[in-house]
Amino acid sequence: MVKIAPSILAADFANLERDIRRVESADYLHVDVMDGVFVPNITVGIPVVQSIRRVTDLPLDVHLMIDRPVRYAERFCQAGADIVTVHVEADTAENTGKALDIIRGQGKRAGVVLRPGTPAEAARPFLDKCSMVLVMTVEPGFGGQKFMEDMMPKLRQLREWIREGGLDCELEVDGGVDPVTCRTAVENGAGVLVAGSAVYKAADIPARIKELRG
Ligand code: DX5
Ligand code: ZN
Repeated sequence: MVKIAPSILAADFANLERDIRRVESADYLHVDVMDGVFVPNITVGIPVVQSIRRVTDLPLDVHLMIDRPVRYAERFCQAGADIVTVHVEADTAENTGKALDIIRGQGKRAGVVLRPGTPAEAARPFLDKCSMVLVMTVEPGFGGQKFMEDMMPKLRQLREWIREGGLDCELEVDGGVDPVTCRTAVENGAGVLVAGSAVYKAADIPARIKELRG
């Protein structure tokens, strides 16, 4: 079954606990961490992940849009993340591998993320260490952007490698997922859908989560 990971980037941060309760029928809670360096926006950090951990049992899917995430991977795990994904563009391949090892060493699920301009090949050397590969379907940094359909060949390629290798690795898409584009993503191999605006702008959030699952 397709999993839904609502992004709290579209929530009201002054009412975060309330807005987390509103998505409790989802599968994961997606937490977008931005540092103002790797992406041109700043969101939340370690203390916020810690606080979120105390108010929900949903697995926390922490998307690190930060420069050299190897520096902080351990602390995000200790703050209560269940899945931690790092961008392959944010450091050298060696350090990306190290970050994945740190996350796994903490008993958590590790993953890599690809920006729209980054080819599938960039994820390939890491697939054995990954429980998740995240394909961005918008430029990371902001919610509410348009789904990039031209990422679908990349998604299919990654699905193929995961299948061929018999890997226990989920394939996730993030950005512009709505009741229409969710179908495209799933048809092209996505198993986990991140959705910010499409979930939080819905009048009936549980119904929207169901609709996105398809
Ligand atoms: C963008 C973030 C996304 C964002 C998605 O950099 O990684 O998770 O919240 O928002 P929507 O679903 O509104 O495109
Ligand atoms: Zn994200």
